[in-house]
Amino acid sequence: MMDAHTASRKDDHLRINLEKGVKSSLTNGFEAYRFRHQALPEIDLAEVDTSLTVFGERLRSPLLISSMTGGTQKAAHFNQLLARAAQEFGLAIGVGSQRAALEDPSLEDTFRITRQEAPDALLFANLGAVQLNMGYGISECQRAVNMLAANALILHLNPLQEALQPEGDTQFHGLLKRIEEICRKLPVPVIAKEVGWGIGAAAAKQLLEAGVAAIDVAGAGGTSWSQVEMYRQKDPQRAQMVAHFQDWGIPTAQCLAEIKQEIPNACVFASGGLQNGIDLAKSLALGATLGGIAGPLLRAANEGYDQLAKTITLILEELRICMFATGKKTLTEFNQSVLTLIR
Ligand SMILES: Cc1cc2nc3c(=O)[nH]c(=O)nc-3n(C[C@H](O)[C@H](O)[C@H](O)COP(=O)(O)O)c2cc1C
Repeated sequence: MMDAHTASRKDDHLRINLEKGVKSSLTNGFEAYRFRHQALPEIDLAEVDTSLTVFGERLRSPLLISSMTGGTQKAAHFNQLLARAAQEFGLAIGVGSQRAALEDPSLEDTFRITRQEAPDALLFANLGAVQLNMGYGISECQRAVNMLAANALILHLNPLQEALQPEGDTQFHGLLKRIEEICRKLPVPVIAKEVGWGIGAAAAKQLLEAGVAAIDVAGAGGTSWSQVEMYRQKDPQRAQMVAHFQDWGIPTAQCLAEIKQEIPNACVFASGGLQNGIDLAKSLALGATLGGIAGPLLRAANEGYDQLAKTITLILEELRICMFATGKKTLTEFNQSVLTLIR
């Protein structure tokens, strides 16, 4: 059974993310790049096509509503709004860690609502990778996928968050071998993801060699989980210690650039601190297959569905304008040649 602590932690996370300043003190790194303007694009704006295929599923746009929540009624409400948007706009979407529902099946509906609202979306299940060192195996991973009829499973890597949480699981020794086993046995692709401190090239290489189908770098520059955990600390001295980690992590643009340089064919998703359609466009030009956004979409959804839909509309319009004003009609053509490194 999910204990009261797990449930209240989920609602704490939502409340703190909505009410407090939880941004990393680092930037996402995309400010180091600028688009090369093309005064003669020789295409019509209406011709710009942002569609793509990921894991065999067609998406209208390369935007991922990043993994956030589930497990409480409030979480179900957000999952419903976010999934409705994924369906309406033809996007990819993830749910938050499903551990709560694996431990208490009465909570499954708070995750399942995502698939109900988004029958056609590319949908990602989610579990903390460290749970594979705490007794979880292929059967829990398969149950998480089945719960949502998910197209892939995200295993999130969050060593720093676990270390900063009073109730954290910090046994990360030997995890790669267990991830490898899940990649071998699970019939859907496995994605390895951080939660806001980034995956560098060395870890990405090991994970890809272990069989993960994609890396979501979830780098620094946006939501800082040390800040979220700082607000949850009861002891002021410990809160101060946790606050020291506000500038921790590898900025998202740096993760992406170093992975693409070392492993050019890797399938990489870029999330962590993307604020708008220009950040999204830069991530795609740097080689990401999808750009993911969490915190800013949660805050938009908190204002209601219309605000969420409007936010997504503007992000996608910005992306299309970036492609138009660099003269690129499709995402395949939209590569590093459209960017200038400015420092
Ligand atoms: C309220 C909230 C809950 C989250 N829960 C999860 C989670 O359960 N699993 C996960 O992989 N990431 C989780 N994340 C992390 C996001 O997926 C994302 O990696 C991170 O917030 C950075 O993106 P952002 O800067 O756009 O918010 C959560 C983020 C937020 C804001």
